[in-house]
Amino acid sequence: MVKKVKIINVVGARPNFMKIAPLMKEYRKYDSFEPIIVHTGQHYDANMSDLFFNQLQIPKPNISLGVGSDSHSKQTAKIMEKFEDVCLDVQPDAVLVVGDVNSTMACSLVASKMGIKIIHLEAGLRSYDRTMPEEINRLVTDALADILLTPSKDADENLLKEGVSPSKIFFVGNIMIDTLFQFLPLAEKSNIMNELNLEKENYILVTLHRPSNVDFKENISKIINAFEEIQKDIKIIFPIHPRTRNKLAEFGLNEYVNSLKNLILTEPIGYLDFQKLMSNSKLVITDSGGIQEETTALKIPCITVRENTERPITVTEGSNEIVGLDMEKMVNLTQKALNNQWKESKIPLFWDGKTSQRVLKVLEDYFVKKG
Ligand code: UD1
Repeated sequence: MVKKVKIINVVGARPNFMKIAPLMKEYRKYDSFEPIIVHTGQHYDANMSDLFFNQLQIPKPNISLGVGSDSHSKQTAKIMEKFEDVCLDVQPDAVLVVGDVNSTMACSLVASKMGIKIIHLEAGLRSYDRTMPEEINRLVTDALADILLTPSKDADENLLKEGVSPSKIFFVGNIMIDTLFQFLPLAEKSNIMNELNLEKENYILVTLHRPSNVDFKENISKIINAFEEIQKDIKIIFPIHPRTRNKLAEFGLNEYVNSLKNLILTEPIGYLDFQKLMSNSKLVITDSGGIQEETTALKIPCITVRENTERPITVTEGSNEIVGLDMEKMVNLTQKALNNQWKESKIPLFWDGKTSQRVLKVLEDYFVKKG
């Protein structure tokens, strides 16, 4: 029997799960690969992790490292220690990492020290803002990777500027959109809008969890003040990330937030309910990277509460606008969305639901055909 190519696929945090799901499905079409899932445990709450495995039909992880939360360096170090043992044991031909979370960088570092090939899916994105932990994760991972799979052409250009050899760069498109398009019909059946008493386009969906927004009382207060204005006109649904929940409590802001009648906080919600809410909303306000992309693919207006984005194509081609902490701009743009005056947008090239197919072709050419 021909030896299979053993690839460890790393997941750690919520935004990784929708990137790995379509890939696991696509591997099954090939006899030549033996995919193994390693979950670092960076996210561990049931509604931040297990729920996504179930809904996205991802096979159970073969190995779980159970690292949990800690400071960035300690979390990274714990993942590295445990992942080295996994690599020694499994002896993979390659490690595939996705996105830009701490698990992505930690496992790339381990693989590089052990001479194992590294595949980075969602390579080349740059915010050029090194105060963002994810930017450091992206820079390190891309510097080490052997195969860099990019979601958009601007990512290719960033890598070329950094001196990455063109032979390592493969434009495959946006893997998360594979998951979005696959699960939209199922998401449409979700009952979440009835549960929250919502009608199509009569609410705004909000997510916020970036340290730059939620870890400073001044910034999060500024944002909630703007929400106080906006919720006078339209309901705001705000599924709340654990980091944000902890910070609101720490800053003594719970009472204020709860006093705003049209600002409705929920626990973090699963993938299908979230897609249902997003695809039926009038507008999304977020600081997430993935949601900027999903709203672009759905052509839903999106306001991003960050000073920059590593996904500029969502602004130049898509339905995204960047406002930073300029809350006046946010309120004005919200009015524009409510008045149906949002800019025209289009869906970027290769955000078509077929990225996992292109990824597997690249991997087959690299590991199987070239031997
Ligand atoms: C991480 C990623 C970020 C991604 C986000 C999506 C890094 C550097 N950041 O940020 O890029 O956009 O995930 O969610 O990798 N917590 C829980 N339960 C959990 C997970 C976390 O309660 O299951 C709490 C803990 O108090 C933890 C805090 O949330 O300290 C933050 O978690 P952490 O994984 O450090 O970073 P995120 O803010 O989630």
